[in-house]
Amino acid sequence: MANVTVIGAQWGDEGKGKIVDWLSERADVVARFQGGHNAGHTLVVGEKVYKLSLLPSGIVRGTLSVIGNGVVLDPWHFRDEVAKLKGQGVAITPENLQIAETCPLILPFHRDLDGLREDASGAGKIGTTRRGIGPAYEDKVGRRAIRVCDLAHLDDLGPQLDRLTAHHDALRAGFNEAPIDRDALMAELRDIASFILPFAKPVWLTLNDAKSKGKRILFEGAQGTLLDIDHGTYPFVTSSNTIAGTAASGTGLGPSGAGFVLGIVKAYTTRVGSGPFPTELEDETGQRLGERGHEFGTVTGRKRRCGWFDAVLVRQSVAVSGVTGIALTKLDVLDGFDELKICVGYKIGDQSFDYLPAHAQDQAKAEPVYETIEGWHDTTAGARSWAELPAQAIKYIRRIEELIGCPVTLVSTSPEREDTILVRDPFAD
Ligand code: GDP
Ligand code: IMO
Ligand code: MG
Repeated sequence: MANVTVIGAQWGDEGKGKIVDWLSERADVVARFQGGHNAGHTLVVGEKVYKLSLLPSGIVRGTLSVIGNGVVLDPWHFRDEVAKLKGQGVAITPENLQIAETCPLILPFHRDLDGLREDASGAGKIGTTRRGIGPAYEDKVGRRAIRVCDLAHLDDLGPQLDRLTAHHDALRAGFNEAPIDRDALMAELRDIASFILPFAKPVWLTLNDAKSKGKRILFEGAQGTLLDIDHGTYPFVTSSNTIAGTAASGTGLGPSGAGFVLGIVKAYTTRVGSGPFPTELEDETGQRLGERGHEFGTVTGRKRRCGWFDAVLVRQSVAVSGVTGIALTKLDVLDGFDELKICVGYKIGDQSFDYLPAHAQDQAKAEPVYETIEGWHDTTAGARSWAELPAQAIKYIRRIEELIGCPVTLVSTSPEREDTILVRDPFAD
């Protein structure tokens, strides 16, 4: 099975977009399977920088790209992102982009609710992207959602809309917000339907056809394992399953289609938004990582929190996603450090842990146990072969492989597409 499933193995922003773009040259189809426009995937191709939130990164090369049923779709954002990319010269048509008919829609009141809840939460807020992701997933599992296929049946929407607006009007009343203006909503849906419907397809069928023809499918995860609704640092997580298993349920291809699971791993750790982060550095070193790594959120522009590499978390991610190999990104950001630290365990009080315990309070109290490794002063930036890496950088990579129990498949040494070292071709497995 020559498919590849790309997932983030930390708290997101590991460089998934760059790696998916690089791999998509060898893929026939690229599929998003969860999340929504909370994602921000950056691709650098020569002078051009592409920032994608909802569209699969394969679209930039013109590879057939599909948005699976596991994604929550803001149709107005979709229209804007298509327009933005077309403005950058990317060809986007229903021939090369498909949306699953069963995708739930993110509607304006989902965005409102996300913001209202965050504003009301004070210090306990999650620090969401405020894009309505959580509320839209709630309506999906609550069986109230309006889905892409409903846009072709707007005249029949009455009873469904009754249920949905009754639910949201009660919530809005609690925030002293006016009820939903149904006429305005219907007008907006009628307006956007004609733009969305040409892209709406049975994506599960497209993927199963591709599979039966022996085509290569590349699944593009969003966020990261520590933001997974089940396996992440709950409640400071996103509202979808971000692990590799979701590639199956979020597209309709079946678990045997996942192929090689490629975990994307940053050579240090970052997190944007609230929640526990055992190896966070709130000192000059953290600042230096942030500056060298340009660690600002793609979607919200927020400063990302930075810290040392946490091998315990990545080992956990490797386990829950069944990762076959990792792509280690942003190695160049570590150039010039005298020494580097790697977290190999935690202490909570007098107890030792070799995994992150489930409870948020324990996670918040987890003290990292570090081992120190000598850094390197030569540069790795722009390296395209293993031979160009300083010996000490190779030692760092080898130690990470040992600690996480998983081999390195790719190494990334700059934002640029071609500054990538191929150790083992994931499509060849
Ligand atoms: P994603 O959400 O996982 O796709 O990651 P983001 O695009 O949000 O954040 C990763 C950032 O790091 C982007 O600005 C990339 O251009 C950049 N990047 C990716 N790989 C590398 C690398 O190897 N070195 C450096 N310096 N930057 C990288
Ligand atoms: P990519 O795909 C990093 C974080 C938010 C917040 C939490 C919940 O670019 O790696 P949400 O809006 O999803 O309800 O926010 O999840 N978050 C991300 N952090 N990268 C992302 O995506 C993220 N998507 C959501 O900051 O802490
Ligand atoms: Mg990102």
